[in-house]
Amino acid sequence: MCPQGAVRIEPWSASDLPLLEKIMGDPEMTEHLGGPETSEQIAERQNRQERLADSGRGRSFKIINEPTGEAVGGVLYWERTWRDEQVYEIGWSVLPPFQGRGIAAAASGLAIAKARSERKHRFLHAFPSVANGPSNAICSKLGSNLVEECEFEYPKGSFMHCNDWRLDLFVGGETAR
Ligand SMILES: CC(C)(COP(=O)(O)OP(=O)(O)OC[C@H]1O[C@@H](n2cnc3c(N)ncnc32)[C@H](O)[C@@H]1OP(=O)(O)O)[C@@H](O)C(=O)NCCC(=O)NCCS
Repeated sequence: MCPQGAVRIEPWSASDLPLLEKIMGDPEMTEHLGGPETSEQIAERQNRQERLADSGRGRSFKIINEPTGEAVGGVLYWERTWRDEQVYEIGWSVLPPFQGRGIAAAASGLAIAKARSERKHRFLHAFPSVANGPSNAICSKLGSNLVEECEFEYPKGSFMHCNDWRLDLFVGGETAR
């Protein structure tokens, strides 16, 4: 269990490409995400993540392990249309040496507090593959409700069997800052 305050999140920046390469260029990390991306795809993704906050359509953060100051992963949320509604979708990643300590859940809680404070979209969804045990456990831990299983297009052109988890940002979170 990750003690409160053991992680912080910082805006994703131009110097975070090597971290993104570790996250999206690795077969183990992308097992439930359609496999590793090419260098070009990762560079495009880096560009999008750097600009996300300025676009006003979401936010992207790196996760910092407080005790060592190391960047150990990322968490981001962005706007999408889902079932004819504008919602946020969230995604998270933590590098293998740091997994299993509650870091993803803690960092996602911090990102969700930011999304909640915006009062912009009511619902925040996550669509982990049904086979992604840790991600489904995090969704449940964060207080999301399991809406349904669904076929979800990711990456573009291929469909994954996913769970649709939904969190109501307009209720709860009174203590979040
Ligand atoms: C998913 C991921 C972010 C989890 O990171 P993490 O820091 O290890 O996650 P946490 O420690 O916060 O929480 C994991 C939870 O899953 C549970 N868990 C681990 N393996 C599990 C499994 N096979 N089945 C069910 N639950 C499992 C853990 O017990 C833990 O819950 P607990 O704290 O109640 O014990 C990390 O594995 C990762 O980056 N994977 C690759 C990228 C990815 O798939 N991202 C998700 C896209 S939706």
